[in-house]
Amino acid sequence: MGNSKGIAVLKPIRAEMARIASYLWEKGWAERNAGNFSIRITEDIPLIQIITDKAIKATPLEMPFPDLAGELILISNSGSRMREFSKKPAKFSCLIKIESKGEAYRIIREEGRPQGIPTSELLSHLAIHDMLMKNKPHDRAVIHSHVTELIALSHMSEVHSSESLSRLLWSMHPEILMFLPLGMGFLPFQLPGTIELAKASAEKLEKYPALLWEKHGCISTAASISEAFDIMDMAAKAAKIYFMASSSGQRPDGLGLLHIDQIKEHYFKKK
Ligand code: 13P
Ligand code: ZN
Repeated sequence: MGNSKGIAVLKPIRAEMARIASYLWEKGWAERNAGNFSIRITEDIPLIQIITDKAIKATPLEMPFPDLAGELILISNSGSRMREFSKKPAKFSCLIKIESKGEAYRIIREEGRPQGIPTSELLSHLAIHDMLMKNKPHDRAVIHSHVTELIALSHMSEVHSSESLSRLLWSMHPEILMFLPLGMGFLPFQLPGTIELAKASAEKLEKYPALLWEKHGCISTAASISEAFDIMDMAAKAAKIYFMASSSGQRPDGLGLLHIDQIKEHYFKKK
C-alpha cells in the first residue's frame, strides 16, 4: 500500500518541524516528552491521491469536528522526545486524516515509517485547527511547549488574566508590543489532554496568537511552525527579562503607559 509521493511532500515540512524541535530542546522547554506540534497540510497535497489503508482502523474522537472532515494534519506522536524528534522527524510524527463526519481520524500509512499515535493533546490541536480554519485560515501551525519562563510566570496570581499578562509582557521590551500586538491569552489550569482544555484553548486563541496554560505551558499558532515558535520565543524573552530584573530584589519598572502609547502610535497608527 503506497503513499510514497505523500512522503516526498511531507519531507520539507518535517525538516522544519525537526529544526524547531531542536530549538525547543536547546531552550530547555522540552523535558522528557514535553511539547507537541501539528500543521494542517491539506492544501499542500492537492494532487496526490492519499491512499487510505482500510486495514488501519479509524480512531473515534471524544468530540466530533465536522468542519475538519477530510483534513490532513501532520502531528507529533505521543511520547516523542523533542531531542529525538529533531533527528528523526518521520519516526516521531504521523499524518492523520479526519473521517467524513469529523467523528474519528485515521492514520495514513507511509511506507517505511513506524507506527505511532498522535499526541495526547490531539483534542486541543484539533479544536484549535477547527477554530483557525474558520477565523484565521492562513494560520495552519500549532505548537505546544513547556516554556519554563512562562510557566514560572503563570505561578504568579498577578498575571492571571489575559490583560495583565499581556501588559506585563509588553512592558518588558518595545518589540514585544510590535510583534505581539494582540498580546497573550491566559487560561486557568485545566487537566492536560481533556476536552475542557481543548474547547477553552480554541476559544481563547480566536483572539490571541498565543496562550499560557496555567502551571503547564504555552501554545501558539501561526502560518508556519517557525513563526509559531517565534511567538513563544518572544513571550519567553519578555518573561525572562522580568525575572532577571526582579532577581535584583527590585520590582522592574517596565515600560510605562506613555512609552507603550508612543510605540503604538509610531508603529501602528501611521500604517
Ligand atoms: P505528548 O507526548 O502526548 O505529546 O504529551 C506531551 C505534553 O506536553 C502534554 O501536554
Ligand atoms: Zn504539555
